[in-house]
Amino acid sequence: MPKILIVYYSKTGNTEKMAKAIAEGAGTFQEVKVELKRSESPWRLASFDAILIGVPTYHHDMTDNIKKFLEETAFHNVNLKGKIGAAFGSYGWSGEAPGMVLEIMEHKFEMKVVKPPLLIKYVPDEKGLEECRKLGKNVAEQTLQSS
Ligand SMILES: Cc1cc2nc3c(=O)[nH]c(=O)nc-3n(C[C@H](O)[C@H](O)[C@H](O)COP(=O)(O)O)c2cc1C
Repeated sequence: MPKILIVYYSKTGNTEKMAKAIAEGAGTFQEVKVELKRSESPWRLASFDAILIGVPTYHHDMTDNIKKFLEETAFHNVNLKGKIGAAFGSYGWSGEAPGMVLEIMEHKFEMKVVKPPLLIKYVPDEKGLEECRKLGKNVAEQTLQSS
């Protein structure tokens, strides 16, 4: 059974709303197992077929906890090569963080990334939530195709 992990950080709840909608979309298929978490240990990542990381942009950067998570994953040589990767996050005006995460997924971990990252300005409205559900569904379809 394909497994999808959605791991995210959210300070004021906007990226969390996105994460929940993505999980809803990914859960469209009963044959796919979806886990939605605020944190995960790097060594569990190897057991997933797709990993989606949600991070808001603060100070033109990703947040410290997500940065540390990626650094530890690299430090412990967790093999993510060929897994599906996607990044998303709420932002206010510049929105760099999800793009930074996606770049690391692609170049450091050699994952198959979904481009572009999904960015939503501040609070996601219904249209934004629908985009999130679509991303979740799209990733779930990809895991089914490659399983
Ligand atoms: C102190 C502070 C710094 C911020 N810096 C940025 C920034 O550099 N670029 C940007 O696009 N948004 C910035 N924002 C806006 C947040 O990304 C935005 O409020 C987002 O919705 C927060 O997501 P969250 O609710 O998931 O924490 C900043 C917000 C705060 C409070």
